[in-house]
Amino acid sequence: MRNLDEKTVTQAVIARNADTPNPRLHQVMTSLVQHLHSFAREVQLTEEEWDYGIDFLTRVGQMCSPTRQEFILLSDTLGLSTLVTAQNHRKPMGCTEATVFGPFHVQDAPRYDLGADISNGLSGSPWFVSGTVKSIDGAEIPHAILEVWQADDEGFYDVQNPEMAEHQGRAVLQADDHGAFNFKTIVPQAYPIPHDGPVGQMLQALNRHPWRPAHLHFMITAEGYERLVTHVFKEGCQYLDSDAVFGVRSSLVAEWVRHEAGIAPDGNLYETAFYTLEFDFILNPVRAA
Ligand code: BEZ
Ligand code: FE
Repeated sequence: MRNLDEKTVTQAVIARNADTPNPRLHQVMTSLVQHLHSFAREVQLTEEEWDYGIDFLTRVGQMCSPTRQEFILLSDTLGLSTLVTAQNHRKPMGCTEATVFGPFHVQDAPRYDLGADISNGLSGSPWFVSGTVKSIDGAEIPHAILEVWQADDEGFYDVQNPEMAEHQGRAVLQADDHGAFNFKTIVPQAYPIPHDGPVGQMLQALNRHPWRPAHLHFMITAEGYERLVTHVFKEGCQYLDSDAVFGVRSSLVAEWVRHEAGIAPDGNLYETAFYTLEFDFILNPVRAA
């Protein structure tokens, strides 16, 4: 293994890895080396570009902290997250489609009873969200666990506020005996993904905007069903066809219905506008092993 050149180095690296004990790691590393070298050959990567790439990835790593995952943002904005989600969640027609997880889920969201106001004091237009969790055959799925999280009226998540004292706009709820759920919150706005770091600079260099269309996140789990991580997007939002992270699916876009005033689903009279959303989730049964 001497005198390797631009034609022979790829095979030499692959051969050096031949004794990898884990077969999956061996497969992944062989393919990674092949594609990485093909990329460098195809674009005839210069030393300055190689240097820039190393520096860029270094800055991505340095931007990471317990509350900021710049590598996930990089994966999201390069469409890798959507690709990995799509190829790991192929489902029968009719099931609710999955989309990207995003960086703003937390493990310790507060539990609420059905019907509760999960905004926990956020200001904004009142929004009443309801629906049913069902199986592909139409059967209601009782007691499914729904985790929901959302941006506020200005497009920020609670965890982006360094002064956050309590969680706002996120909840863990349990559907009733018939798979039905409902809660009150406020209408979230479209927002830009965090773009004050290297990923933001990359988007700028590519003449791309950082915005995501307005959406509400759901993670739904029920025994015997594949976990569903998805969003419901707002019909009519200006960023539906240019989501910075490529997460929009037509089946996940729904009307967030505006009501000028009147009796809302909570039985109270609202003198200003409020919104409603009804959305049913169809889970994919886990196939018997
Ligand atoms: C989100 O929807 O919360 C999100 C997804 C990807 C990147 C940034 C934010
Ligand atoms: Fe989000």
